[in-house]
Amino acid sequence: MILVCGGAGYIGSHMVHELVRRGEEALVLDNLRSGHRAAVHPKARFVQGDIRDRAVLDNIFSRHDIEAVIHFAASSLVGESVVKPLEYFDNNVGGMQSLLAAMAAHGRDKLVFSSTAAVYGEPERVPILEDDPTRPTNPYGESKLIMEKMMQWVSQAHGVRFVSLRYFNVAGALPDGSLGEDHRPETHLIPLILQVPLGRRARIGIFGDDYDTPDGTCIRDYIHVMDLTDAHQRAIDHLRRGGEGGVFNLGSAQGFSVREMISAAERVVGRPIPTAPEARRAGDPARLVASAAKAAKILGWQPRYTSIEDVISTAWAWHQSHPDGYAE
Ligand code: UFG
Repeated sequence: MILVCGGAGYIGSHMVHELVRRGEEALVLDNLRSGHRAAVHPKARFVQGDIRDRAVLDNIFSRHDIEAVIHFAASSLVGESVVKPLEYFDNNVGGMQSLLAAMAAHGRDKLVFSSTAAVYGEPERVPILEDDPTRPTNPYGESKLIMEKMMQWVSQAHGVRFVSLRYFNVAGALPDGSLGEDHRPETHLIPLILQVPLGRRARIGIFGDDYDTPDGTCIRDYIHVMDLTDAHQRAIDHLRRGGEGGVFNLGSAQGFSVREMISAAERVVGRPIPTAPEARRAGDPARLVASAAKAAKILGWQPRYTSIEDVISTAWAWHQSHPDGYAE
């Protein structure tokens, strides 16, 4: 059985869906602070609880034969982390401390971790390689980098092997429209763009149009959530085969500017999406594009969603059928 911490969140819920589809048994642990009970696959077991609560983890590891852990349970809003750094260190770093202690105590040795491009901060070059400098520019990225370092040391001391997956900009939804992204508040570009054709906002703000990029807007590497779940499954299989752990970028190696994303969304929804210039958002690097060559070489991973319109189409299917998200 695979324990999925944070399996009711955006990426976690898609992961659980994929695990069930592949015939794996999944147990979701989620405190539902930002996750949604309705997003948890009916065939997965569900425990509502906090990973910082050692008793909850001890209970799960004692009662279930947990072969591997996938850890998504963390606070993940860059802006909020700048205002509330201590909450981020408590939830993210504290959560990892508790999880690693429980895994070591119960002799569990396979961990796949949800890391982020935010560990790199403002990159010196793109595409970014895994051994490029890590200089986070916000507490969220710092907390994930600390969590990676904790896994590294605990791996040496206690043999907990780990794969840390540094996601770039995760996007899209389950293609049938039944699962998707529902953050409160929503801060991510694609859901906010799609709120315009949904009639939920009049225009999409463009946070800065004077960056050093061809059209002046920030460039990001958007990766489909189902391509990510495939990478996680490969990471588990890699650890099962006794493969060496480590950190891997997950991105498409293609960059799209904010303006290009809005144009692509216009093509998907078939109507114009009005924009409004806004001030730069603090801490936004001009360009983030991954080299995912290491994941290709070692995990055999290749993104299947290579067209940005296809990525946006799956998000559109979700938002059209669930304009209020999970509406709890
Ligand atoms: N943007 C706008 N208008 C909006 C929202 C976003 O112009 O209304 C811009 C942002 O300034 C940025 C781009 O669209 O240039 C993408 O923004 P998102 O908020 O969708 O994503 P980020 O690149 O800020 O964040 C993502 C992940 C974080 C992760 C970060 C790594 O969501 O978890 O990449 O830097 F930390």
